[in-house]
Amino acid sequence: MNAPTQAQAATPYELLGGDPGVRALVDRFYDLMDLEPRYAQLRSIHPTTLDGSRDKLYWFLSGWLGGPDMYQQRFGHPRLRMRHFPYAIGIAERDAWMACMRQALDEQQVDPELSRRLQEAFAGTADWMRNRAEPGQQTG
Ligand code: HEM
Repeated sequence: MNAPTQAQAATPYELLGGDPGVRALVDRFYDLMDLEPRYAQLRSIHPTTLDGSRDKLYWFLSGWLGGPDMYQQRFGHPRLRMRHFPYAIGIAERDAWMACMRQALDEQQVDPELSRRLQEAFAGTADWMRNRAEPGQQTG
């Protein structure tokens, strides 16, 4: 028996609810970063106002999840790793970013299977963003 083809064809963008779904996830992510004491250190490396961060992550995720590539239209190639160089990102920052995103996915009640797939993809990108050696880590 064949598996349903409709679910296979849908992009993560569509499964998340399209434009309003992506925006709501990003807004919740930055609301949590602003509100929750456990993300205070992560919050502190961001600009004073998160308005620009919200727009950029929303534009980026729209394309990254298979929807309109709004980030690329505005800024060209994302060069995400390079754009994160100004911010010291180690294991603690990576893990805080992931925890904040996981909480946003949970609170938006994203379908568990979709949430699992998204977290896997986010985790790969977040780890790639690390640019600071951990104390005691050998560098040679
Ligand atoms: C690993 C932990 C991460 C930390 C600590 C972090 C932190 C930051 C900071 C401080 C900024 C600057 C915000 C601003 O300019 O308003 C930024 C920008 C951005 N981040 Fe991250 N980020 C992380 C992971 C990620 C991941 C996993 C993604 C995508 C899936 C992402 C996507 C972006 C985008 C698209 C921008 C805007 C880049 C630009 O145009 O300047 N970040 N991030």
